[in-house]
Amino acid sequence: MDSEMLYLNGEFMPLSEGRIGVEDRGFQLGDGVYEVIKVMNGHLVWLEDHLTRLVRNMGEISLAHALSGHDLQAVLPELVARSEVDHGSVYVQITRGYAPREFVFPHPPHPTVVAYARSKPAPTDEEILAGTTLHPVEDLRWARCDIKTTNLLPAVLAKEEARNAGADEALFVAADGVVREGGSSNVFALLRGVLRTHPLSNRILAGVTRKHVIEFAHREGYGVEERAFTLAEVTTESEPECEVFSASTTKDVTPVVRIGSHTVGNGRPGRVTLALLDVMRREQALLVGLEPPAPLS
Ligand code: PDD
Repeated sequence: MDSEMLYLNGEFMPLSEGRIGVEDRGFQLGDGVYEVIKVMNGHLVWLEDHLTRLVRNMGEISLAHALSGHDLQAVLPELVARSEVDHGSVYVQITRGYAPREFVFPHPPHPTVVAYARSKPAPTDEEILAGTTLHPVEDLRWARCDIKTTNLLPAVLAKEEARNAGADEALFVAADGVVREGGSSNVFALLRGVLRTHPLSNRILAGVTRKHVIEFAHREGYGVEERAFTLAEVTTESEPECEVFSASTTKDVTPVVRIGSHTVGNGRPGRVTLALLDVMRREQALLVGLEPPAPLS
């Protein structure tokens, strides 16, 4: 789209005109971190949460000062306005920048700061109610999945494997059967009436959507435990009341109706899942000045 704008190291330009050097450490080494932020009605949703996580992750890779001179609180809304994005997302990436290729850090670093906005229509109610499918894969990622790094090869391979298996998303499962998270989403299960999700640790990303879903569930009076569940627990036929959903910035709360060859619960989006999605849609509409959509539940 002509209006797609890029913020690159302090300047706005059309996305198609952005140039980054071959020896940028983001390109050669995956030496960077990123965020994806939802845009609704031209507003950035839960921006504070994303910026807090970005700054935390920059600290975790010793790139704490890369944003001095870049006021993302102001830059990102301006980018959305310039790009005329009504609904979609903003992608932000910070790398350790351009330097002759060496593994060790360059001193001083010249970080690369990139952000751009892209339109994507919201899913229709029919699409949401059709649910999504997950393909379990062994979690072969590194032991710092709490850092939202641009080193995404394991997720790329897992998601491609999922697509080839006819599923929408990969599900990372540990060798002992514990469900960690999706390829680019957190995962919740309703088991015996209690909502469960993997606790925060080095094995999963602390999702912004996950955090808000937990808050909504508490507020609405559902039992929630940050306690891992296993693949077997959500795929046994003896659990007809079981619900599973994924949670992410790009897909909101998405009901999961199949995992591998197993139907989840009764194969339709669960009651609690849809109730939480309704709360989330209401909250987000309120945040961005829209009328709340009709409930799905
Ligand atoms: N990914 N877990 C992983 C591994 C992720 O990559 C993501 C998000 C999440 C959900 O986090 P949040 O609710 O903050 O979006 C969990 C983004 C959307 C992406 O890489 O495109």
